Amino acid sequence: IKAESCGMVIFGASGDLARRKLLPALFELFRRQLLPANFFILGGARTEMDDDAFRRSVRESLAEAGSDSELEEFSGFCHYIAGSYEQPVLYEALKSRLAELEAGCLTGGNRIYYLATPPVLYPVITEGLGRAGLTSDAAGGWSRVVVEKPFGRDLVSARELDRALLRYLTEQQIYRIDHYLGKETVQNIMILRFANTIFEPVWNRQYIDHVQITVAETLGVENRAGYYDQTGALRDMFQNHMLEMLSLVAMEPPASFDGDRHRDEKVKLLRAIRPYSPWDMDQFLVRGQYAQNSDKNLPAYRQEPGIKSDSTTETYAAMQVMVDNWRWRGVPFYLRSGKRLARKVSEIAIAFKPVPHSMFAGLMPENLLSNVLVLAIQPEEGIALSMETKRPGPHMCMSSLNLQFSYRDVFGERSGNAYERLLLDCMAGDQTLFVRRDGAEVAWNVLDPILQQWQEETGSLCFYPAGAAGPEQAEALLAKDGRAWRPLGDR
Ligand code: BG6
Repeated sequence: IKAESCGMVIFGASGDLARRKLLPALFELFRRQLLPANFFILGGARTEMDDDAFRRSVRESLAEAGSDSELEEFSGFCHYIAGSYEQPVLYEALKSRLAELEAGCLTGGNRIYYLATPPVLYPVITEGLGRAGLTSDAAGGWSRVVVEKPFGRDLVSARELDRALLRYLTEQQIYRIDHYLGKETVQNIMILRFANTIFEPVWNRQYIDHVQITVAETLGVENRAGYYDQTGALRDMFQNHMLEMLSLVAMEPPASFDGDRHRDEKVKLLRAIRPYSPWDMDQFLVRGQYAQNSDKNLPAYRQEPGIKSDSTTETYAAMQVMVDNWRWRGVPFYLRSGKRLARKVSEIAIAFKPVPHSMFAGLMPENLLSNVLVLAIQPEEGIALSMETKRPGPHMCMSSLNLQFSYRDVFGERSGNAYERLLLDCMAGDQTLFVRRDGAEVAWNVLDPILQQWQEETGSLCFYPAGAAGPEQAEALLAKDGRAWRPLGDR
């Protein structure tokens, strides 16, 4: 990846996202010498502060991440501008500040505007930039805008947001970030499927029994009550990360790993998801919220600071997704994600069908464990394939074991954080790992009927003890088909 010289303007520079994700990622790129030689960061926010104060805050927030001299050098890239996003004067000041920095840093007028602000400000900032002539590529350099999810709250608002952005930008300038697409194992899905010959022939309804996609978190709502209570697990995790992973696992092979060919296939797959009808939702969907667990000393969601005591926001969702196309007809994809669960685990498990006939006396095919291919995303990154083997000894006894590959053991060094990879891609102008407009919209199209139904009838909300594996109803979702979730943490 060849990052081009550029300046990065971070709106919301004093916020959580900038502090926890963006600045650490940029600092790590700097340490690994992956930032372009000509580069600067211009933080923007409402808080009044000068460059020195911003640099100090950058050094403080990264204090654990590097040596004093590295922090000193890195903070030298950082500058700051204060202002109110609604006021045109901010953008006029930004314009002259950029001109000044670009002259000094020789970034050729290339700019990335990172909108690390609440989403209501996306149209406001884009308009401010557009009206000040800061989004056109005319000045000899390019301009790109990175937006964080949520991309709207539903299909209608997503379309409105797109229209607002597209008044001042082209789709090629918009980088909708989904950090799951930057995770190593998620990227590896493409390599595993399409750079090996052995998987693709069995990657279909003839051999695959079902697929489970899990993103389980131990954390609760933390300090994001304001955002989360308005959002819920379906919007927070499914509209983006979960459906993105599903589309990568299930899509047809793209002709090339080029941004649009790849994204065409993902969108095609999402369009093939069978819509839910109001009468089958109970059967295919589970909506849960964590309840108090006194044994583990964990509060209920409704007791968390900033959460309404009668909130019906879901902190857990599980769904069965059917993909109506030639490859997947009849293969269920079970997706689950929740907060305050027993363990932090993100993985995709592909469960193959059992053997059609057992030649081993007394063993029926259904008593032999089927092969499961697990793509482990976190906390450990790796791949495991479970298989049956003969135990040493005179009898025909079988054991299940795992063929296992761990990124850490094989590649040693830490794999880059997802934001590092995605920021570099943005500097290089590669949109492959970013969400395209139609991709975001089709994902809303899948979820909108569910969100509507859940808003109308709150009775479907079930509760699970904080720190448990999820609601019992989620077990029933698979039990009805004679299947079970992989225990959390089992690999
Ligand atoms: C974010 C969600 O997109 O992803 C958070 O807004 C969630 O609620 C996070 O905690 C999970 O990401 P990761 O990388 O920790 O699995």
